[in-house]
Amino acid sequence: MHVLVVGGGGREHAIVWALSKSPKVTKLSCAPGNAGIAALAQCVPVKATDVEGMVAWARENAVDFVMVAPDDPLALGMVDALEAAGIPAFGPRANAAVIEASKAFSKDLMAKYHIPTARYQTFTELEAALAYVREQGAPIVVKADGLALGKGVIVAQSVEEAEEAVRAMMADKKFGEAGAKVVIEECMTGPEVTVLAFCDGKHLVPMPASQDHKRAFDGNQGPNTGGMGSIAPVACYTPDLAQVCMETIFQPTVDAMAAEGRPFQGVLYFGLMLTPQGPKVVEYNSRFGDPECQSVLSLLESDLMDILLACRNGTLDQTEIRWKAGAACCLVLASGGYPSSYRKGLPITGLEEAGKTAVVFHAGTARNDSGELVTGGGRVLGVTAVGGNLDEAIRGAYASAEHIHFEGMQFRTDIGRAF
Ligand code: AMP
Ligand code: GLY
Repeated sequence: MHVLVVGGGGREHAIVWALSKSPKVTKLSCAPGNAGIAALAQCVPVKATDVEGMVAWARENAVDFVMVAPDDPLALGMVDALEAAGIPAFGPRANAAVIEASKAFSKDLMAKYHIPTARYQTFTELEAALAYVREQGAPIVVKADGLALGKGVIVAQSVEEAEEAVRAMMADKKFGEAGAKVVIEECMTGPEVTVLAFCDGKHLVPMPASQDHKRAFDGNQGPNTGGMGSIAPVACYTPDLAQVCMETIFQPTVDAMAAEGRPFQGVLYFGLMLTPQGPKVVEYNSRFGDPECQSVLSLLESDLMDILLACRNGTLDQTEIRWKAGAACCLVLASGGYPSSYRKGLPITGLEEAGKTAVVFHAGTARNDSGELVTGGGRVLGVTAVGGNLDEAIRGAYASAEHIHFEGMQFRTDIGRAF
């Protein structure tokens, strides 16, 4: 099969890497891909959000199956467009991707189907939102309704901070239209866990639990980022908790989406908080998390292509999915200054040596005019190691990363030990 993966970050490198091991996949393409992906797949110069361009390229190049990885093309209806053109595709249709694209939609869904989450109200009027914040008091959480690159959430420790966030979103339009509607919700406490699940519209199979590290600096300090590292599995997510989540959150969500006429086919991302009152949903995403994907797929033993086909064809319940017994750790190496401004085009060395003991997934990398590998984004590489246990995996990732160098390289030293 000729398989096309849409996207070009560390997550997509991990997906391409996993698919490259499948005997079913005879040709791999990736749009737009990156310098690391280019070693495993043909990189195609079509933007991930170019729905028409993607359909045309897939048609002209006899693509048999498309895996749409990022949230934007999913929300834009890329899967709908591909399927309408007769090209089988993995990922939710636009009417199901809305579970990530609109926080107001997902909160209303949870309320209607009694899925545990933080208490909330949705506002489109500035004054009403401000009044609610004053009435509820702090701490309180203010969220832009739409997609805001993971930056549209403010956990406010004071009423003033919450008011400022509401004004920034609703009056100053800091996130554009994404902030025209805001969700204001109760502040929950407890460890955060990500559970990714394969879904075929009816059935779901959770993957090993994982944990992202969103803050830029050690000890969960500093600004939020796209994610500075991940581990899988997570010790505090016990089999008992997994059972509770399956019964109160996972299957009810898949059933709710089907009941709403929005069957979810793809990877459903459950961002959970293990609160003293039990597990609750912080957020849903309609795709693999990045960098959770890099750790989780490193543990997959089964053929990823078989699973994607089963999701697309509604036969997930007949598909066995096996995982390695150990643990995985993905350490993100970022550009100096990230998530604020940073330089690009800096030469990267040591990847060959690092690749002997870990898999180095590329995120923001590129080739310069002389063909040298250089930095090309905020998050540059995700050094991912697997071990017999979490300690081994963490040590493996850090040991491998010691070989890698680029000017200003920035990383956390406490991945897997910060919670
Ligand atoms: P989200 O984009 O909704 O995942 O929010 C980003 C981060 O904000 C989450 O990973 C949590 O750490 C935090 N957060 C979001 N909602 C809440 C909440 N209701 N209570 C406490 N923290 C929250
Ligand atoms: N790692 C968080 C996300 O992908 O949204």
